[in-house]
Amino acid sequence: MPLVNAKEMLTKAKAGHYAVGQFNINNLEWTKSILLTAQEMNSPVILGVSEGAGKYMCGYKTVVGMVNGMIEELGITVPVALHLDHGSYEGAKACIEAGFSSIMFDGSHYPIDENIAKTKELVAICEEKGLSIEAEVGSIGGEEDGVVGAGECADPNECKMIADLGVTMLAAGIGNIHGKYPENWAGLSFETLAAVQEKTGTMPLVLHGGTGIPAEMIQKAINLGVSKINVNTECQLAFQEATRKYIEEGKDLQGKGFDPRKLLAPGSEAIKATVREKIELFGSKDKA
Ligand code: 13P
Repeated sequence: MPLVNAKEMLTKAKAGHYAVGQFNINNLEWTKSILLTAQEMNSPVILGVSEGAGKYMCGYKTVVGMVNGMIEELGITVPVALHLDHGSYEGAKACIEAGFSSIMFDGSHYPIDENIAKTKELVAICEEKGLSIEAEVGSIGGEEDGVVGAGECADPNECKMIADLGVTMLAAGIGNIHGKYPENWAGLSFETLAAVQEKTGTMPLVLHGGTGIPAEMIQKAINLGVSKINVNTECQLAFQEATRKYIEEGKDLQGKGFDPRKLLAPGSEAIKATVREKIELFGSKDKA
């Protein structure tokens, strides 16, 4: 199946009270592991690409070529959306041109009027081209690709203003942060989430910073209208731990253990295990 936008999968998820995972990709191994696992689990999936990861993978056109090629050659039949993560205005336009099926415009650092104006313009372009679009209100804390956010709680009225522009999905800050959660993290603000959900109705809500959020909080967030959950760091940590183990056990020194196809295999398997676990937890298994 060719790339799809994220609208249908997220509308179904919201109505069915589960969430679709967005797993960020960094290279070929990442992409392959995520696609194969989504297929094995019969789950829809969203591949997230940050601007930094896009640059690392030699630009958006390279990413589009790689993902389209893999979908065809691996025989992937579950719905796959290729989504720009935390895009700038220029980045969003570049991804639309390059053939992404979905974009996020993160205007959360602009004053609300400017966020509205820019989001509105991109909504019109996405509508015309059949792409889905995610907007953000209230910046997500932590650091991602040099963008540092303080972990705000979004203003539900501002969320309603952005939702009314016709975006497909909305990321609202609810005390979530990217990367590992600190020991003294106060947890998700379900009060904010409930207020945002009440104002935005059927709009699929997005939970960023999926790494390390306890299962009960994930469940509660899904019950309160979260239909897309982003995971990045957890796959990176799984990959790192498995690769470290392989080298510490001296396996790269045995036989042809230096071959990148062998060296990167344990990390790739670890990503698969992480994605499998998340798909189970988010409830999107067999929802393709
Ligand atoms: P984590 O890296 O904390 O999983 O967050 C991912 C994310 O929200 C991508 O936008």
